[in-house]
Amino acid sequence: MKGVQKPPLFLLLLHISLLFLLPLNAASSPRTQAEALITWKNDFASSPPSLNSWSLTNLNNLCNWTAIVCDHNTKSISQIDLSNFNISATLTHFNFTPFLNLTQFKLKGNNFTGPVPSAIGKLSKLTTLDLGTNLFSQEIPVQIGMLTELQYLNFFNNSLTGVIPYQLSNLQKVQFLNLGANYYLETPDWSKFSGMPSLTYLDFSPNSLDSEVPEFISKCLNLTFLDLSENTFTGQIPEVVFTNLGKLKHLHLARNSFSGPIPEDIGLISGLQHIDLAGNYLEGPIPSSIGQLKELKYLDLQLNLLNSSIPSELGRCTNLTDLALASNKLSGKIPPSIGQLRGLRHLDLSYNSLNSSIPFELGFCTSLTDLALASNKLNGELPLSFSNLKDIISLSLFANRFTGPLLPSLFSNWTEVVSLELEHNSFSGNIPPDIGRLSNLINLDLSRNQLSGSIPLTLGKLPYIQSLNLSNNNLNGPFPTEIAFPLLEKFDLSNNNFKWPIPDRDCLPTSVGNSDLCRDASGVTRAGNSKKTNKKFIIGVLVPVCGLSVVATTIALILMFHKKTKCALKKINSAQNFENFESMILQEEVKFTFGEVVKAVDDFHVKYCIGKGGFGRVYKAELLSGQVVAVKRLNMSDSNDIPAINLQSFENEIRTLTNVRHRNIIRLYGFCSRRGCIFLLYEYLERGSLGKALYGVEGVTELGWATRVKVVKGLAHALSYLHHDCSPPIVHRDVTVNNVLLESDFEARLSDFGTARPISANSSNWTHIVGSFGYMAPELAFTMRVTDKCDVYSFGVVALEVMMGRHPGNLLESQLSESSQSMKDNAELLLKDLVDQRLESPSNELAKAVVLVMSLALGCIRTRPGSRPTMLYVAQKLSARSLPSLPEPFGMLTIHKLMGI
Ligand SMILES: *[C@@H]1O[C@H](CO)[C@@H](O)[C@H](O)[C@H]1NC(C)=O
Ligand SMILES: *[C@@H]1O[C@H](CO)[C@@H](O)[C@H](O)[C@H]1NC(C)=O
Ligand SMILES: *[C@@H]1O[C@H](CO)[C@@H](O)[C@H](O)[C@H]1NC(C)=O
Ligand SMILES: *[C@@H]1O[C@H](CO)[C@@H](O)[C@H](O)[C@H]1NC(C)=O
Ligand SMILES: *[C@@H]1O[C@H](CO)[C@@H](O)[C@H](O)[C@H]1NC(C)=O
Ligand SMILES: *[C@@H]1O[C@H](CO)[C@@H](O)[C@H](O)[C@H]1NC(C)=O
Ligand SMILES: *[C@@H]1O[C@H](CO)[C@@H](O)[C@H](O)[C@H]1NC(C)=O
Ligand SMILES: *[C@@H]1O[C@H](CO)[C@@H](O)[C@H](O)[C@H]1NC(C)=O
Repeated sequence: MKGVQKPPLFLLLLHISLLFLLPLNAASSPRTQAEALITWKNDFASSPPSLNSWSLTNLNNLCNWTAIVCDHNTKSISQIDLSNFNISATLTHFNFTPFLNLTQFKLKGNNFTGPVPSAIGKLSKLTTLDLGTNLFSQEIPVQIGMLTELQYLNFFNNSLTGVIPYQLSNLQKVQFLNLGANYYLETPDWSKFSGMPSLTYLDFSPNSLDSEVPEFISKCLNLTFLDLSENTFTGQIPEVVFTNLGKLKHLHLARNSFSGPIPEDIGLISGLQHIDLAGNYLEGPIPSSIGQLKELKYLDLQLNLLNSSIPSELGRCTNLTDLALASNKLSGKIPPSIGQLRGLRHLDLSYNSLNSSIPFELGFCTSLTDLALASNKLNGELPLSFSNLKDIISLSLFANRFTGPLLPSLFSNWTEVVSLELEHNSFSGNIPPDIGRLSNLINLDLSRNQLSGSIPLTLGKLPYIQSLNLSNNNLNGPFPTEIAFPLLEKFDLSNNNFKWPIPDRDCLPTSVGNSDLCRDASGVTRAGNSKKTNKKFIIGVLVPVCGLSVVATTIALILMFHKKTKCALKKINSAQNFENFESMILQEEVKFTFGEVVKAVDDFHVKYCIGKGGFGRVYKAELLSGQVVAVKRLNMSDSNDIPAINLQSFENEIRTLTNVRHRNIIRLYGFCSRRGCIFLLYEYLERGSLGKALYGVEGVTELGWATRVKVVKGLAHALSYLHHDCSPPIVHRDVTVNNVLLESDFEARLSDFGTARPISANSSNWTHIVGSFGYMAPELAFTMRVTDKCDVYSFGVVALEVMMGRHPGNLLESQLSESSQSMKDNAELLLKDLVDQRLESPSNELAKAVVLVMSLALGCIRTRPGSRPTMLYVAQKLSARSLPSLPEPFGMLTIHKLMGI
């Protein structure tokens, strides 16, 4: 026992002599049992206070010891239940021999490590063996097969490896068998599995099983729960599963490699409540027999290759709450019968080829909270009945062929809506001012339509709006000054008919892709071109296949990782493992898997969404361990910003970032690429963003001058590291107050690398500007060329904003037109009037620090990229041991004076 002294020798002797005092009847077992337990306990690395009754002085009360149940007649131990006792120990020094009559042995939810000893096979009376949620490793001993009385066997969530012993199938009485979440358990010779006929619950998910569905399963006639998901099972889903397993309620086969059709007999199992076949290669039709499943609540067939129409019989499954058919090849119409599913909450038909209009009846599904019909060929106007969807939270209809106006009546009832994605359609007419009533709206995307008129002022009244995209329409009219754009994470009004102020012409390129006129003076280091050519060839061959098949992505990733062994990929040993969600956690210290994360966010349910950026959504995942991580989901097929050809370089980039370790940069734990989505896994910081701290309720009291300087300094160090210590240098491209997160001690952590790029000659290929309005360097509006000086500019904006307590909008504009009158006016502004008026003016050393930050920041927002300092320079200045003294008293300093420092 750590921290507890070993009993002195005389105590041990006392203990032994006391043991002999125990009653000698009952085959002398209580004594030896007590002895065995104490010996075992003394070996625990940590044992909880609750086990104090297990002691030398309490030998006569054996049957009253914690976690112990005695047999009434023999007075010897029949059950040990140490579930969730917070014990760190092994079973290696557990003497099984005195416990041959044990019927229950439960160690669930502790920190047991090491192997499961083969001596466990001696406990031939066991009916319950629960070793779940521990850290047991090595192989499952074949002797488990000797425990023929077992009814309940749980190995869930350990680190067991090796082949599942076929001897398990000797367990004729076992009803509950869970081998899930061991991840590396491998396929046995199933033909030796004679069967476990009593099984009602069987869970193999997730592991590394890669056979066809084993035959024995179809003989488990009493099965109600079957979970084979997140393995690499192949072949067809056998018809016999459905003809035989008539009692099945839960069928989970998701994220395997099943192919072929969904058996028509699926409709035979009338009690099915939950069917999850997502993420396979299933093709052919959705069987209309599913309509017979009256108890069905949850049907998930997404991410397959199903290519029929949606059977109207689905409308008979009136208990459905979740229906996900997304990312298949479904065509035809949305059957009006879906309107009968009055309990339906989530309906996802996106990424198919459906080509009808939306049936009026869909508006009868008044329980809908999430409706996703995006990326189909749906057409016509939105049915008026949609105004009934009063519970709708997320409506995603983008990338279809919808026409007609956005009728005000459609919006008036959607008071709960948080995300409205109507982009990339042919909606026309004005944006109805009623949109301003959707007071919960966080994300509004109406881009790429034919909307005209001006931006309704009501948009500026949406209290929670974070992302607003109205680009690529025919909007005109004045600048909507009511919209507090610094609070918006993403804001895009480009490609409309607005009369924007025309910025400096200096920076305009002579032709597209040639941005020589804008070359910065310092000369940015560029990644060598010679290596690139080779890579491009590989990409060129692989990428077209990637779009269709995960296997190809897998190969690409393997190639990529084999080239460099720098990343910790010890566990990845076969191509199949890439199919598993756990495979891309690149940090060794991370104790969870992607599979867990996906579960924690309920397969990316909108309720876990904590934000949406131009590149994808961010989800907050609370793992069972209590650890919280942030997951960013990037949808490549949907993004203009990651052209397919760049997939591999993007992945390379992420790999680089997982190696970035800096205390001012958020930790990227890893990534996973699956079916056109990239998932990035970050550390989650509870305090949230700098923007939240600046503008939230506690802004003033929490963010004093010293803290603000510290935050700016941290950010400068992060960017300096990315620009000057990484090879190739990395440009973040989206430095905003919302992408700087704060630790509990206000240490800044730069986050959101969804848009980050290594600087390379290819950067001029971007077809779409990324970044956030209000932070983007002015040259980006014309050149598409990304340099580290773009980050410097954004840093300057953020630094000013931190000091001013508001977005420095006017200052930036006056910088743009350097000769203008407003510039001259600004120059005479007093610094003391510019800084955040909510705080008292800084004095002494703090005044010096504030002046230094302000003068550096003003240098960073210079219009000409070449005249901005490097981040290295900024970081060094901010960290200098002594601060430059003030040229004038703080209260008299002007902006003009600062710019000269
Ligand atoms: C097990 O139980 C039987 C009777 O049920 C008894 O005879 C035997 O001594 C017990 N063995 C141990 C080790 O307790
Ligand atoms: C068993 O322990 C409880 C308290 O934990 C005590 O009240 C009871 O007297 C004990 N029984 C015996 C037989 O020692
Ligand atoms: C396992 O051990 C770790 C570290 O020793 C501890 O933080 C954790 O609480 C333990 N977990 C359980 C379930 O005992
Ligand atoms: C679990 O045990 C560890 C020591 O190994 C201790 O630090 C921790 O506080 C314990 N947790 C609980 C919940 O008792
Ligand atoms: C299946 O379940 C029924 C009813 O619960 C039970 O009578 C029967 O023995 C079970 N069959 C097997 C093989 O366990
Ligand atoms: C539907 O679900 C309800 C409760 O959730 C249940 O009472 C009912 O039996 C189920 N089946 C049908 C056909 O409605
Ligand atoms: C809003 O929904 C209610 C039903 O909840 C419906 O009666 C009403 O007509 C709807 N409002 C509009 C403007 O359609
Ligand atoms: C798996 O076990 C670990 C501890 O070993 C625990 O933190 C985690 O919550 C468990 N996961 C599940 C899904 O129960």
